[in-house]
Amino acid sequence: MSNANETNRRSFLKTGAMLGAGLIGAPALNTVQASQASAKTSLTNKAVKTRTLGTGKHSIQVAHGIGLGCMGMSYHRSFIPDKKISIRLIRKAYDMGVNFFDTAEAYGPLTNEELVGEAIAPFRKKIILVTKFGFKEGKPSLGLYSRPERIRKVVEHSLKSLKTDYIDLLYQHRVDPAVPMVDVAGTVKDLIVEGKVKHFGMSEAGAISIRQAHAVQPLTALQSEYSLMTRGPEQEVLKTCEELGIGFVPYSPLSRGFLSGMINERTKYNPANDNRPTLPRYQPDAIRTNWAMIDALYEFGNPRGLTPAQVALAWLLAQKSWIVPIPGTTKLAHLQENLGAADFEFSTEELKNFTEAVSRIKIVGDRYTGVQAQQTNKQ
Ligand SMILES: NC(=O)c1ccc[n+]([C@@H]2O[C@H](COP(=O)([O-])OP(=O)(O)OC[C@H]3O[C@@H](n4cnc5c(N)ncnc54)[C@H](OP(=O)(O)O)[C@@H]3O)[C@@H](O)[C@H]2O)c1
Repeated sequence: MSNANETNRRSFLKTGAMLGAGLIGAPALNTVQASQASAKTSLTNKAVKTRTLGTGKHSIQVAHGIGLGCMGMSYHRSFIPDKKISIRLIRKAYDMGVNFFDTAEAYGPLTNEELVGEAIAPFRKKIILVTKFGFKEGKPSLGLYSRPERIRKVVEHSLKSLKTDYIDLLYQHRVDPAVPMVDVAGTVKDLIVEGKVKHFGMSEAGAISIRQAHAVQPLTALQSEYSLMTRGPEQEVLKTCEELGIGFVPYSPLSRGFLSGMINERTKYNPANDNRPTLPRYQPDAIRTNWAMIDALYEFGNPRGLTPAQVALAWLLAQKSWIVPIPGTTKLAHLQENLGAADFEFSTEELKNFTEAVSRIKIVGDRYTGVQAQQTNKQ
């Protein structure tokens, strides 16, 4: 093992121990705009690295450079834990320095925002609260709907559910081809002037839509699926974000759990509350073929004291300094493990060799099919 690897491994293990020792505790960052150098969790008194999404007055600082995806606590990830447990998890995340919480009208629908609103109430002003609009009645199955009057209605409802009077970052969940981007961005711009929204983002938008929206209301972040299993954003979208100074938030950064190595071809889902049984990539044959990726994660992670999930997240963080993944979890141990990824830094050589190795693996099975695929394939 090289000296650099040994140092990284030691720093990772030390951090893990510090976080583990400090799970019972007190509030974290004192301000959303914590500076890069001084952000600390009072839980461990350990400096927490931050990452910046967006530019200038449109920027926000995200502690750990990793947020918490809250969707799975109510939607699409099979088992729904008791509400009290999820509230406790969100509050523990805050104790551990997490300040970026992702939800959407569509998660539940509606119920996830209520859960998040209740959980973050004691520290609402100290965190970045993120939600999304863009579907008829908030239900993806009913189709897209981003007309200005609907955006306003969703925002009013989200504010109520989230028990707040402003949303820090509001995304359009999917581009709606029936509504000109200038109308969508113009509506969000008005909501920003009114103080109901602080920052604007889009999800799964292509370069053309990003440029059209950004010209009306500068975007802080683009949120799209990006992971070792889904590298589409590398083709064009990341370059557009870099050029325009827009941050990037990879969703499903663990490929819906696959990259943790904890789901396999025998995994049973609750089809009433999980989209994975409908997605080609989670069918047993695809899982078996794609297992080469898990082998690669273990091969890299084992000698460095990293789990597959940590390698997958650290690789995303290594792509650009303005990338902030939002792994979703319902479990404190997984949250702690995922945050630990921020403590590992690839050396240039490690990154090159690992990326070459994983790029040789041919991924089988699309990430989405049918309407969902059409909705994510927008320019
Ligand atoms: N903009 C969009 O269209 C969009 C779409 C999908 C998701 N999202 C956002 O992105 C967030 C994350 O996406 P996601 O939930 O689809 O995928 P993900 O974060 O890639 O994976 C989540 C799954 O991985 C498991 N997991 C997490 N950490 C783990 C660990 N360390 N070890 C083992 N298993 C682990 C979770 O189960 P446990 O609960 O057991 O940990 C969960 O089933 C969502 O919460 C949501 O906020 C946005």
